Amino acid sequence: MKHGATVQTGYNRIADAYLRQRTQDSADVRQLARLLAVLPPGALVLDAGCGAGLPIAALLTASGHRVVGLDFAVAQLTLARQNVPGAVFVGQDLTALGLAPAAFDAVCSYYAIIHVPRHEHAGILAAFHRALKPGGYAFLCLGAADIDDDIDDNYFGVRMYWSHYDGATNLALLREAGFVVEWSQFVSDSLGDSPPDAGHLFVLARKPL
Ligand SMILES: C[S@@+](CC[C@H](N)C(=O)[O-])C[C@H]1O[C@@H](n2cnc3c(N)ncnc32)[C@H](O)[C@@H]1O
Repeated sequence: MKHGATVQTGYNRIADAYLRQRTQDSADVRQLARLLAVLPPGALVLDAGCGAGLPIAALLTASGHRVVGLDFAVAQLTLARQNVPGAVFVGQDLTALGLAPAAFDAVCSYYAIIHVPRHEHAGILAAFHRALKPGGYAFLCLGAADIDDDIDDNYFGVRMYWSHYDGATNLALLREAGFVVEWSQFVSDSLGDSPPDAGHLFVLARKPL
């Protein structure tokens, strides 16, 4: 099975189980304040790989922003529509995004790009850049370690796939895509039984005016 199908099938099966374990107020979630601090009132924000909408789309919506959540797992979208009725949710694949150019004030993405084969990450960042208005922000959770193909045959009971670059490479990719990196930080994982050194690179980047 291709990696994308593995991830999509997996999240369709584990949507409820993942949500039960998803932390709602942990270090990674609290970093969202960095994006909230720079958004204009009523900003149009894309939550790319939104999952069940909790906590990220819900927090953005509760802060008065207009949220479009995007995911390719139907089970996640079904939960998201129930959990965050004030947002709009669409089914799309991050590797084949069809977004209007210069439409969004911000793109936010937690723990989704890391599920895509890493040779496709530059294309996703370029698509985010195109979808942002000049001066728009990207708030992204990216990999912090150099791992090409990582497969777990028992992630909440299903086969799952990850792929990412180390932090320095991710920052270089963002700059190559045209972003200015305004802030970045390694944030330790909070989910379940993560090893103590596991974590992700969180980045606030801006499309120049
Ligand atoms: C680990 S969950 C994170 C969900 C949510 N962002 C959160 O913070 O809890 C990853 C989500 O990304 C979605 N995803 C992974 N690869 C994707 C792709 N290529 N296109 C669209 N969604 C994708 C999955 O379906 C899943 O809902």
